[in-house]
This record gives sequence, structure tokens and C-alpha cells, in this order.
Amino acid sequence: MIPGYTIRRVSKDDYEGVIDILKVLTVVGDVSRNRFEEIVDYWDSIYLPGTSTRQHNPHVIVEDATGQIAATGNIILERKLIHDAGLCGHIEDIAVSKNHQGKSLGKFLIDKLTQVGLEAGCYKIILDCDPKNVPFYEKCGYTKAGIEMQIRR
Ligand code: ACO
Repeated sequence: MIPGYTIRRVSKDDYEGVIDILKVLTVVGDVSRNRFEEIVDYWDSIYLPGTSTRQHNPHVIVEDATGQIAATGNIILERKLIHDAGLCGHIEDIAVSKNHQGKSLGKFLIDKLTQVGLEAGCYKIILDCDPKNVPFYEKCGYTKAGIEMQIRR
């Protein structure tokens, strides 16, 4: 735990805070409250078959004193055929608001999401990041593996 902060699953009430904080990461674009709530419902509705484990595990860290969202991030659990039909975790959309950066919240968030993945049984957890964030993820225990490739439109 980080004193003064609470980590929990994203809820529909987090609309403004989550949309605002993701702007430190990338372009969020036009996402209405209604669309946000639909997506939270979708995240909440999908379980890994035969388990009580959710596929999407979006989290927020909230500052207790103000109720402000200070950080957000997600781990998505992918059931594969390889590795004995193993689970692979994908850490996505990590953002700590500018005025809360440098207080170990990012590391705390990655530790929590990693714990969610490992407790679900993931044989590996992976993420893509900008080269400038490599030292941060190394501090969180991650190592470089492979090269990210993409196609965009
Ligand atoms: N370069 C070197 N070291 C770093 C960096 C960096 N860019 N960022 C953090 N660290 C180090 C810290 O110094 C600290 O080291 P220490 O434990 O020795 O003191 C350690 O990493 C943990 O740092 P935190 O305070 O937990 O980092 P913070 O809360 O500021 O979060 C983050 C880091 C998430 C990169 C934040 O700066 C941020 O939100 N940036 C903008 C959005 C972004 O780039 N998100 C990541 C996208 S990748 C993805 O989503 C999978």
C-alpha cells in the first residue's frame, strides 16, 4: 500500500477521472459517459470460462484526501492454446497523473496488476512501452524481450 492512496477496480463513476488521466498517455478522443459506462459493463461481464476470474482487470489508484484518480492501468488475461492452454497477461494503458508522478504510484500499480496476473495463473505477463519507460519497467522487475511491431490505420 501507499499511505494516503487506495487501489481498486474501475467503476462507472470514474468517467471524468479515468478519461482525464489517460490524456498523459495518448489521445483519448471523443468518449461519452454513456460509451465509458458500456465499456465498464463489458469489462465486468467477461469471465474466463469456468472460472470467477475476469478477463479485463482495469484499476485506479485514488487519493484518499481528495477522491481524485491519481493513476490507472489494466491487465487483460488471454487464454491461449500453447503452454498447456496457458494464460498470458497483457498490461495496458498505464497512466499516472502529472502531479502524482514520482511517488511510487506507477510501481505500486504495476505490482498490483502483476499480482492479479500471477494469481490468475499467467505463465507470462507482457507489455509494450516507449524506450524512455524501460528503466521504470525494469524497476518493476520486467526485462526486455522481443521487439514490438504494429500496423496502424
Ligand atoms: N526513467 C527512469 N526511471 C524512472 C522513470 C523513467 N522515465 N519513471 C520512473 N522511474 C523510476 C523512478 O525513479 C522510481 O525509481 P526508485 O524506485 O529507484 O525511486 C521507479 O521508477 C518507480 O517510479 P514511480 O514513482 O512508481 O513512477 P511514476 O508513478 O511516476 O509512474 C509512469 C511512471 C507510469 C511511466 C508515469 O511517469 C506516466 O504515467 N507516464 C506517462 C504515461 C506513460 O508513459 N505510461 C506508460 C505507458 S506503457 C503501457 O501502458 C504498458
